[in-house]
Amino acid sequence: MLSMNVLQIYMIMNDTKVALITGAAKRIGACIAEKFHANNYQVIIHYNHSADAALELVNQLNHVRIDSASAIQANLTNSADVNALANQVISFVGRLDTLVNNASSFYGSTIGEVDDDHWNDLIDSNLRAAFFLSQALSPLLSKHSGSIVNIVDTHGDKPLKGYAVYSIAKAGLKALTKALATDLAPKVRVNGVSPGAIIWPARFENAEDETVKLAREMILQKIPLGRLGEMQNIADTCFFLAEEGSYISGQVIRVDGGRYLA
Ligand SMILES: NC(=O)c1ccc[n+]([C@@H]2O[C@H](COP(=O)([O-])OP(=O)(O)OC[C@H]3O[C@@H](n4cnc5c(N)ncnc54)[C@H](OP(=O)(O)O)[C@@H]3O)[C@@H](O)[C@H]2O)c1
Repeated sequence: MLSMNVLQIYMIMNDTKVALITGAAKRIGACIAEKFHANNYQVIIHYNHSADAALELVNQLNHVRIDSASAIQANLTNSADVNALANQVISFVGRLDTLVNNASSFYGSTIGEVDDDHWNDLIDSNLRAAFFLSQALSPLLSKHSGSIVNIVDTHGDKPLKGYAVYSIAKAGLKALTKALATDLAPKVRVNGVSPGAIIWPARFENAEDETVKLAREMILQKIPLGRLGEMQNIADTCFFLAEEGSYISGQVIRVDGGRYLA
């Protein structure tokens, strides 16, 4: 699946910018990758289980521009995988302008039943990997005044009932954003995007179910703009922070239809 050497030659000749987006085989991550790619970036699609979707996206993007996309597999709860992902980017690509820490596991936590595995899975995928990837890749990012964009969540500010560990991880990711913005300055900017409700979670997918309808309505009532956001809204904000926000660092932009105010 990887065509790293070809990618490297192509980049040196064209001085092309490179973005690594974690969890980018599908959904919001894929939309972010497409946004950067549409703006002439080479994109590295990180995935864990979604190999088929990652390959399909890579093929689709390479069809638009030859050798413009590749994919790397890594389980971000595994330290060796995180290091290998960073080392592949450093050794085979040799350039990085934007790192988007998007990958995330998301499920509920019942207080009284949280064990080490549950805690580690949510904290490692949402927070720990973002820290260690940023640390490992910051020397490469600093070569071209690059930036990091962390995908947080409105529930990092206002915890979601029943999702304590996920909410804690996202609150940590927000703190990480500010801490790294301080420590990696002036060469690397670090910002975040905090989505509100963008895609209904699996349990809210059946729009015909009366309970689901009611639950959806209750969520929409809390959003001043009265509707879900779109994946493109998140991708556009990531791209803005990476490309146009050259004097912005340490900020987390809420893309939540005003939900934080409600
Ligand atoms: N969806 C929303 O409405 C919403 C709202 C607020 C915030 N957010 C945030 O926005 C981001 C994207 O949301 P989303 O709904 O598109 O995310 P998602 O589909 O739930 O997850 C994105 C990807 O994360 C990867 N991932 C999960 N655990 C991993 C692990 N241990 N190692 C490596 N990769 C792992 C998965 O990759 P594989 O499929 O390859 O395994 C998955 O495809 C997330 O950070 C999420 O917290 C989303």
